[in-house]
Order: sequence, then C-alpha cells, then structure tokens
Amino acid sequence: MLDAAPRPAVPADRAPVLALAGAAFGAYGDYAAILADWLEEPATRLFVVGEPGQPQGFVAIAWIRRVPGGAPDGDVLAMGVDPAARGLGLGRRLLDHAVSVLAAEAPLVGGVRATLAVADDNAIGRRLFASAGFLPLPERATYPGGQAGLLLYRPFANDPTLQECS
Ligand SMILES: CC(C)(COP(=O)(O)OP(=O)(O)OC[C@H]1O[C@@H](n2cnc3c(N)ncnc32)[C@H](O)[C@@H]1OP(=O)(O)O)[C@@H](O)C(=O)NCCC(=O)NCCS
Repeated sequence: MLDAAPRPAVPADRAPVLALAGAAFGAYGDYAAILADWLEEPATRLFVVGEPGQPQGFVAIAWIRRVPGGAPDGDVLAMGVDPAARGLGLGRRLLDHAVSVLAAEAPLVGGVRATLAVADDNAIGRRLFASAGFLPLPERATYPGGQAGLLLYRPFANDPTLQECS
C-alpha cells in the first residue's frame, strides 16, 4: 500500500483531477465537466492523495438533500484512482476518509447516512463499496450515458434505526 494520506485538494490539483475523472468515467458521461460543475458548489469538498499538482486519486463529497424537507445525505459524488496506481489501497483509503469526514459532520447537519451511486457494470467499485459496508437502496441511479446503477448507503452511528436495534 502506498504511504499516502488523503488531504484537501489545492488549486494545482484541479486540472489533473478533472482529467482523471474524465478518463475514469468517460463511458458514463462527460465527468470532467460534471465534476467541474460540482466543484463550483461551495458545499463540495475534494480530497486527494499524492503530491500537489500530481494527485493519484480523488474523492469528492457533499451533503445533498434527495427528498425536499428530508434529512441530508452525505454523498460521495465521485471517486477515482489513476489506473497506474490502482490495486494499492488508495481507493479504500480515499473512501474511508470521505466516510470519516461525513460521519463527523453528520450530527451537526442532521444527516444519518453516507450515500453513493455505482454503475451496475462497475464490478470493482461495487466490490469496494460492499466491503466498506455500503448497502443497496431501493432507488436506482441513471448515468448521463444511459447506464443504470445502484444507489448505496451506509448508516452512521447517529442513525436512529441503529440505536433502536442496539
Ligand atoms: C474503484 C477504484 C476507485 C478502486 O481504487 P483502488 O485504489 O484500485 O482500490 P484499492 O486498491 O483500495 O482496493 C479496494 C477494493 O476494491 C476492490 N478492487 C480493487 N481492484 C480490484 C480488482 N482489480 N478486481 C476486483 N476488485 C478490486 C477490492 O474490493 C479491493 O479490496 P481488497 O483489496 O481488500 O480486495 C478504482 O478502480 C477506480 O478509480 N475505478 C474507476 C472509477 C470508479 O469506478 N470509481 C468508483 C465509482 S464512483
């Protein structure tokens, strides 16, 4: 495993992260442009691994409200690792970091779960998320390229349904 702790992105990371996203998700839509739009939202946070300007992987997160008036979800908007650095533990490390940040914020914002979408045909992503404790929701995700996907969630410790069961 590479010795790389996730850190907040700096401006020099922006262009390489967008290139990484565009390459990683090219089959599903123009994710360089989509991620650029997400990054313009003040609520979006971007974390990376690697030296400034040379990110090997990224994860973008934001609190989003899927149902008007409902609790916000801590959403993992997108994550990706440079193909040359895959299989070394960076993806899991980025995901763990994203979930930790969101879990720490959850009681303050009134959220109780992390969420994310993964395409049905993304076997590696589905395996990573399942092993990190993400479970399927009944709702489905659809990508700009027309692909279908799973919407997954992972409850935080402040989820009242977990407390009822304990
Ligand atoms: C999904 C992705 C982020 C994983 O990054 P990574 O750094 O290679 O992942 P890790 O090395 O941390 O491995 C984490 C887990 O992913 C799964 N995984 C990684 N590579 C795999 C492979 N070649 N085959 C099957 N499972 C694999 C495994 O569950 C692995 O856990 P394990 O090593 O304990 O078995 C990376 O493949 C990627 O960028 N894919 C394209 C973008 C994407 O699909 N993003 C996720 C949806 S938003």
